[in-house]
Amino acid sequence: MNLSTKFLGIKMVNSLVLASGILGVTGSNLAAVCRDGCGAATTKSIWLKFHAGHANPTVLHLGNGNLINAVGLPHGGIEEARVEIESFRKLSKSPLFASIAGSRLEEYAATVEAVAKLKPDLIELNISCPNVEDEFGKPFACDVNLAAEATKLAKARCGKIPLAVKLSPNVANIAQIAKAVEAAGADAIVAINTVGPGMVIDIETAQPILANRVGGLSGPAVKPVAVKAVYDIYKAVKIPIIGVGGISSGRDAIEIMQAGATLVGVGSAVVDGGSEVFAKIAKEMEAWCKQHKIKNISEVIGLAHRS
Ligand SMILES: Cc1cc2nc3c(=O)[nH]c(=O)nc-3n(C[C@H](O)[C@H](O)[C@H](O)COP(=O)(O)O)c2cc1C
Repeated sequence: MNLSTKFLGIKMVNSLVLASGILGVTGSNLAAVCRDGCGAATTKSIWLKFHAGHANPTVLHLGNGNLINAVGLPHGGIEEARVEIESFRKLSKSPLFASIAGSRLEEYAATVEAVAKLKPDLIELNISCPNVEDEFGKPFACDVNLAAEATKLAKARCGKIPLAVKLSPNVANIAQIAKAVEAAGADAIVAINTVGPGMVIDIETAQPILANRVGGLSGPAVKPVAVKAVYDIYKAVKIPIIGVGGISSGRDAIEIMQAGATLVGVGSAVVDGGSEVFAKIAKEMEAWCKQHKIKNISEVIGLAHRS
């Protein structure tokens, strides 16, 4: 069986995407992950200007592949992104998704405009990071009007490049936000960013362990949250969804696709098991489809919505 797919006109060898912030720090990193079997790679979130991120410790392993992180979106700025994307293009023919960070609406808009000139295959608007709240307040993805406004401003600067908007699970009604973002011009939704914020305390020092005190949760424990988010969004919108959160096996990928995802993002499982995890997940997806006489992977999308 062939897992190849087309997403918003972008040809991919399979439906798997390297999630933003994981290994995507240099062009050669991103190209290596694509060589190891993902259908597309997402850069870490790009800022227009240098952004320091948080002090160490930034990532804690909670066991069973689960993480809490407060990396805080470190990035060198647009020139670093240019080098990263240009070097990726020399090394790989795989599609590249560029994630965008920002603090203010105008900053997002300016960064989208600058990144669009670097011609990524898709622009992913990260308006949902839960571990920069101390710096910037609640993420725009937690407010229906701000999420829509950010999308509108970004869409006007993307040109022909498709725009995906990455949503937060840390809201009362993610479907309502997805609908607003769709109406504002998004071509796709990415769900979910990390869950939280949460906190881990060292009971010997009675202090939070992360330097930022709080961080976002990811890994297998958040998969049910991601599956429910994708399920709710699929019911609410017509645009395709990239489902992310706790995916580490072919069965996980099939599950989030049945909830409604067209593509499947993988993050923490790559931190845990390296980029070889993509070939493993793809092989398991293929085996499952064969066993269930599925000829094309797209037949799986939204199956959980059949009555
Ligand atoms: C260490 C780490 C860094 C991350 N950095 C980013 C980032 O820069 N931009 C972003 O949109 N999401 C970032 N994320 C969130 C992931 O892309 C993903 O949405 C989330 O971790 C859930 O997927 P997972 O359970 O497969 O990791 C990061 C996650 C982790 C664990």
